[in-house]
Amino acid sequence: MLNKSLIHQAAGVIHESRNIVVFTGAGISTESGIPDFRSPGGVWSQYNQDDLTYQKFMSHEKYRKLYWAYDQARYPAMRDANPNAAHEAVVEIEKSGRLLALITQNIDGLHQKCGSSVEKIYELHGTVMEVTCLECKARWPRKEIVEKMERENLEVPYCEYCGGPLKCATIAFGQALPEEVLMDSFNHAAACDLFLIIGSSLVVQPAATLPLQAKRAGARLILVNLSDTPYDSLIDIIVKGKATQAMRSIMTEFRKLSGLSS
Ligand code: APR
Repeated sequence: MLNKSLIHQAAGVIHESRNIVVFTGAGISTESGIPDFRSPGGVWSQYNQDDLTYQKFMSHEKYRKLYWAYDQARYPAMRDANPNAAHEAVVEIEKSGRLLALITQNIDGLHQKCGSSVEKIYELHGTVMEVTCLECKARWPRKEIVEKMERENLEVPYCEYCGGPLKCATIAFGQALPEEVLMDSFNHAAACDLFLIIGSSLVVQPAATLPLQAKRAGARLILVNLSDTPYDSLIDIIVKGKATQAMRSIMTEFRKLSGLSS
C-alpha cells in the first residue's frame, strides 16, 4: 500500500523543482516484462556474472559464445517490450519543462520508445539495440547483426571491416563506461535541484555515486523502489512500492498542484 503522505510530499518537491535529474535502473522496466538483476529470480540468479566480464569476452572464443548466448536470450524481451506508466511519468516531467537529464543504467531503450528526448538521455551502460566492434568501434543496428547471425548460423559475429569481435553495445563488468556520458552525468547530478531515482538497487559503481554527487551539491533526493538501498539514509523521500503505481499517484498529485486537474 503506497504511503499517501509521501506521495503528496514527492509530488510537491517535483512541482517546486526546476532542474530534475531522473535516474533509472532495471526496476523501472520489470513491469514491462524485463527481469531486473538482483530481485529474487533476477538475471544474476540465472547467469554467472563472472563469466560475462569484458576481460573474459576478450580472452577466449568460448566466453564470446557464452556472452552472445546470454545476450541473445535476453534481447527479444527487450526488443518487444512496451514502456509502462513509470516511463510515461518521466516523459510528463520532461514535458513540464523540469527535466535537466534522464540518466539510465538500463539497456532496453524503453525511455526512447516512450518518447523521452534522445538528447536528454544518458545511457551509462549502453544499449542492446546496437552492436559495436570492440577493435575499430564500428556500429550496426542490432537487428542487422541478428539477421546476419541467423543467415550465416553464427554463434559469434566478427567485424566485416577489421575482423575484430562484435559485441552488443552494452557495458559489461570490467568494461569502461563511455567517458563523455559519465562526465556529463556527473555534471548534471551536480547541477540539479532534484535527483529522482526510480527502480535501482544503487549497488553498481560508478553509477551509484551519482546520488551522492547530487546530495553534496544541495539537491533533494527521492527514491521510488521496492527494496532498501545502501543510500537510503541520504534520501529525503523514499516511496516504497511498484514504480508504475507510485509514479501514477505522484503525477496525479503533481497535476493537481500544477492546476492541470481538479
Ligand atoms: N517497482 C519498483 N522497484 C522495483 C520494481 C518495480 N516494479 N522491480 C524491481 N524493483 C527494484 C528492486 O527492488 C531493486 O532494488 O529495482 C531495483 C533493481 O535493482 P537491480 O536489479 O540491481 O538493477 P539496477 O540497479 O539497474 O542494476 C544496476 O547492475 O548488473 C548491472 O548493468 C547492470 O545496469 C545494471 C546495474
